[in-house]
Amino acid sequence: MAVVVSSGNAPAFKAKMTVYVFVCVVIAAFGGLIFGYDIGIKGGVTAMDDFLKKFFPTVWEKKQHVHENNYCKYDNQFLQLFTSSLYLAALVASFLASAVCSKLGRKPTMQFASVFFLIGVGLTAGAVNIFMLIIGRILLGFGVGFGNQAVPLFLSEIAPAQLRGGLNIVFQLMVTIGIFIANLVNYFTATVHPNGWRIALGGAAVPAIILLFGSFIICETPTSLIERNKNEEGKEALRKIRGVEDINEEYESIVHACEIASQVKDPYRKLLKPASRPPFIIGMLLQLFQQFTGINAIMFYAPVLFQTVGFGSDAALLSAVITGVINVLSTFVGIYLVDRTGRRFLLLQSSVHMLICQLIIGIILAKDLGTTGSLGKPQALVVVIFVCVYVMGFAWSWGPLGWLIPSETFPLETRTAGFAVAVSCNMFFTFVIAQAFLSMLCGMRSGIFFFFSAWIIVMGLFAMFFVPETKGVAIDDMRERVWKPHWFWKRYMLAEDDDVEKRTE
Ligand code: BGC
Repeated sequence: MAVVVSSGNAPAFKAKMTVYVFVCVVIAAFGGLIFGYDIGIKGGVTAMDDFLKKFFPTVWEKKQHVHENNYCKYDNQFLQLFTSSLYLAALVASFLASAVCSKLGRKPTMQFASVFFLIGVGLTAGAVNIFMLIIGRILLGFGVGFGNQAVPLFLSEIAPAQLRGGLNIVFQLMVTIGIFIANLVNYFTATVHPNGWRIALGGAAVPAIILLFGSFIICETPTSLIERNKNEEGKEALRKIRGVEDINEEYESIVHACEIASQVKDPYRKLLKPASRPPFIIGMLLQLFQQFTGINAIMFYAPVLFQTVGFGSDAALLSAVITGVINVLSTFVGIYLVDRTGRRFLLLQSSVHMLICQLIIGIILAKDLGTTGSLGKPQALVVVIFVCVYVMGFAWSWGPLGWLIPSETFPLETRTAGFAVAVSCNMFFTFVIAQAFLSMLCGMRSGIFFFFSAWIIVMGLFAMFFVPETKGVAIDDMRERVWKPHWFWKRYMLAEDDDVEKRTE
């Protein structure tokens, strides 16, 4: 398929959607699959009796009195620490990964990620004590930090501008496939005693091995090569991924972006300058908002949540499998629409959509689920249906766009640093939700759904007024085409222009 990539006053870059780019996209996105697998697997593993008895006996004891309190049965800070230690590690690792990403390239960063994953999987699946378990999770966290730093950037840099949204969302697609596979694995290994949890945790080795070997096939991005003065290799890589001979214009534009970038000695300091504020603030807030949609309350704890509303252990896992399928299928909608309707439409539509779902779920639980007992069948079914509809909305909007927008809006000089801050914010807020959710559920009960609803209103308003459209704009043309014309953000650009003028006077 030939596409001409043009973006207003940017040069028209010729490009084809080549098989090679497709292969690179799929392999790199295996980093997302591992991330997703982990998100999905822990909800199931922490519901398994064998696992709880071995590592968290007090939680297991409490679970025996399951009918005592619907909302508080798994509230245990240690159990939550098992879930969330990974995110703290990933938060720290993403800064390290950003340095590796710019000094050594996107490809070695992915290779590091897969090695961390493999060691982490070995330790968690083979754990004989809680210490091994936590260390294993920290290493998995390093894998996530490195993978989530390198993969979205890699995808945004190798994609032609007109297809960038869709190709970048392949990362999120693989996240959702990972969650879905994990849900299936949870479902089947729940019946394998006493080592089902080891099989479940060990399963992450498969995508980690694919990422490790696959990363030897993929190329480095032209931008990363040229940025590190490997201009001839960069040109060759560009020719290979674009599938056309005439890549000079795009090559020159990358060289130009690299020249500007090379003048910036400290990208983190540059990030604090007014001109960096728009992508910086948006990049951070999108992470806060993505997590405060409440999605991970559902993803991490779907089996626990469904059990809370009155499904048996097996039925609960099965419902989680259903939300998994819906999550995957709806992400395709995002891939299809993101470069057609644009980013803003998806964010706004889904805010309304998710708000309605959260409110309905909250109202049913508030009305019909007491501290003990269970929901009636019809109400439980309505809850599951609205959880599914809610997941749909997230899957084509705040999920993928939380990764896409920060990976495409920073200029090259602050791209890896800015994206690292975004990744670490994502990890931080994921950590907050993972650590706090079960206690919040216990303390706020059904009120937790109203809490997330309030956040959805805030994020919808933010998207309406402050998130500009970036569809089809070349990655190095955001300043002229996106920030300068924006009603609010232009003030930071003008401030910088004034600054430059004063300096040259
Ligand atoms: C988010 C995860 C979430 C997943 C759900 C990702 O974009 O970063 O925190 O669990 O989407 O599909």
